[in-house]
Amino acid sequence: MPELVVENLKKSFAGNAVLEDINFTVNDGEFFTLLGPSGCGKSTTLSCVAGLEHPDSGTIRVGDQIFFDGDPRTAVPPESRNLGLVFQSYALWPHMTIAYNLALPLKLRKVSKAEQKRLVDEALDKVDMLHLRDRYPHQLSGGQQQRVALARGIVYAPGVLLLDEPLSNLDAKMRDQARIWLKSLQREVGITTVYVTHDQIEAMSLSDRVAVFMHGRLQQVGTPTAIYETPATTEVAGFIGRCNLLEGQIEEAPAEGRTVRVELGTTGQRLHVVRRDGAHEGQNVTVGLRSERITLAGPADVADDGVNVLKATVKHCSYTGARFEYQLSLGGLDIIAESPIRHEGEEINLLIRPEDCLLYPTTI
Ligand SMILES: Nc1ncnc2c1ncn2[C@@H]1O[C@H](COP(=O)(O)OP(=O)(O)OP(=O)(O)O)[C@@H](O)[C@H]1O
Ligand SMILES: [Mg+2]
Repeated sequence: MPELVVENLKKSFAGNAVLEDINFTVNDGEFFTLLGPSGCGKSTTLSCVAGLEHPDSGTIRVGDQIFFDGDPRTAVPPESRNLGLVFQSYALWPHMTIAYNLALPLKLRKVSKAEQKRLVDEALDKVDMLHLRDRYPHQLSGGQQQRVALARGIVYAPGVLLLDEPLSNLDAKMRDQARIWLKSLQREVGITTVYVTHDQIEAMSLSDRVAVFMHGRLQQVGTPTAIYETPATTEVAGFIGRCNLLEGQIEEAPAEGRTVRVELGTTGQRLHVVRRDGAHEGQNVTVGLRSERITLAGPADVADDGVNVLKATVKHCSYTGARFEYQLSLGGLDIIAESPIRHEGEEINLLIRPEDCLLYPTTI
């Protein structure tokens, strides 16, 4: 299967820049996800790849085939790109059986009748829907329709599969199940896949790599682990997971030290943080602190060597079943933390390892 390369992609609508210099490569067989908040340009990027929109500039190619090279007059039309497309709305033809819905793209490609049947049944079998091949779409549940839409996306063996929020019409439980079978389907077929979602859990659990979009720009491209453990910017840190972002200033940065000491704004509290290149005394910084990396302890508990101890007060504690979620005040700053156990009393200690703190220079 070929790779998909997108270079210097720019797109604006009526003078408003929506995509600004987007670059990424999706490798052969990779599950690659465009993740970002609503309106950041994910669907527009996918539409440009599909050929449903023309970029203002940039290049798009799959393997050796150039789809777009900056000139709309030479753009390859959508139907000649051999891409599989699945969108949020299943868009099945209501008056056709499931089997016929799948046969249609094959018919358009002039595949013989016998081969159509073989390919349709094979694709339906892959999504466990073969037994419902003669039903009509309205006789299927949402999840079943979604499987059919997926099967239709792969039935003609496209070079690349493009999926835009394909699971968002399913309820939470069905989405969990659908994620699992979608991932194993993609593995089995081995198809290069570009997936669009604003759901970070979906992105993290499905993808080989994730591209985080914000305001029409790519902030970071990396494995789910890299995106979570070493977010490139405070925006990525804030978007993925639950991350407290605390303003401060580096008070001490010994040249040989593993950590620097940050004074946290007006709280009067100090935090040792693993140093990053370029960190220097007097620098204004933002410290990212993930809610689940904060350990809550009683005021009298002792911490291991090298672990920061910060004093906080409990403002609110809510029980979610799996854990307790705390809203805390850290010298007047609101922060959130999680704990598997409930802590009594208002005064609480936060135990924070220097390596669990993310350090960013503050950009004004
Ligand atoms: N045809 C269009 N005409 C004008 N503006 C558009 C058009 N399509 C998209 N936009 C604008 O471009 C921006 C990006 O839209 P896009 O659909 O790519 O976002 P998205 O990241 O897919 O968001 P969501 O998660 O809500 O689907 C938005 O501000 C949107 O309003
Ligand atoms: Mg969208």
